Amino acid sequence: MQIQGSIALVTGANGGIGRQFVDGLRAANAAKIYVCARSLAKLDPLVALDPERIVPIELEVTNLESVQAAAAKCSDVTLLINNAGISLNQAIIAADSLDSARAELEVNYFGLINMCRAFAPSLKANGGGTIVNTLSAGESKPPLQRLIQCLKSGCTFCNALCSRRVECSRNACGCGDAWNG
Ligand SMILES: NC(=O)c1ccc[n+]([C@@H]2O[C@H](COP(=O)([O-])OP(=O)(O)OC[C@H]3O[C@@H](n4cnc5c(N)ncnc54)[C@H](OP(=O)(O)O)[C@@H]3O)[C@@H](O)[C@H]2O)c1
Repeated sequence: MQIQGSIALVTGANGGIGRQFVDGLRAANAAKIYVCARSLAKLDPLVALDPERIVPIELEVTNLESVQAAAAKCSDVTLLINNAGISLNQAIIAADSLDSARAELEVNYFGLINMCRAFAPSLKANGGGTIVNTLSAGESKPPLQRLIQCLKSGCTFCNALCSRRVECSRNACGCGDAWNG
């Protein structure tokens, strides 16, 4: 993966691991970094660090219009980092309802797919870039106690079988996994 000179986009960039991705991209000399958050105000401190290279973008990954608007604004992206995610920390069977499960699916699974689908044409047009999907190392440790681990497993499956081997070769972009604790 070529980071130097790349034009990167990080979802959920306003804190946590997303902020670490941004710091890493700056250190590795990315040419431009689109930083995404649901509220532009949350991005002000990040933009202030490096206003020449950091461009704020409002993005809600579960909203297709928002995702498509971001893809249209950031059509020069060569490195897409899908970091946004939620963990509502609910058990699967003991939870009172499926509300948390549905919310996690919307963000962690369908949100990620929304982003891949919306940005794949730009990545292809820009010569074939890279998609990095943030996963969870917890998924590999049985038993799968929390829903997020199942969801991240689904994303891994999507990366491995669909994106990396078939879709990415068709769309001329690479696909990587970022494993978190
Ligand atoms: N931290 C860990 O130990 C760990 C372990 C395994 C996997 N991960 C994965 O690593 C990634 C980052 O984790 P983190 O710990 O840095 O989480 P975090 O601090 O909670 O940050 C998550 C980011 O995602 C954004 N986000 C949430 N829902 C969104 C939505 N619907 N649309 C757009 N952005 C949204 C949040 O924005 P707001 O500020 O607006 O909420 C926030 O910027 C996630 O995918 C997570 O599942 C983390």
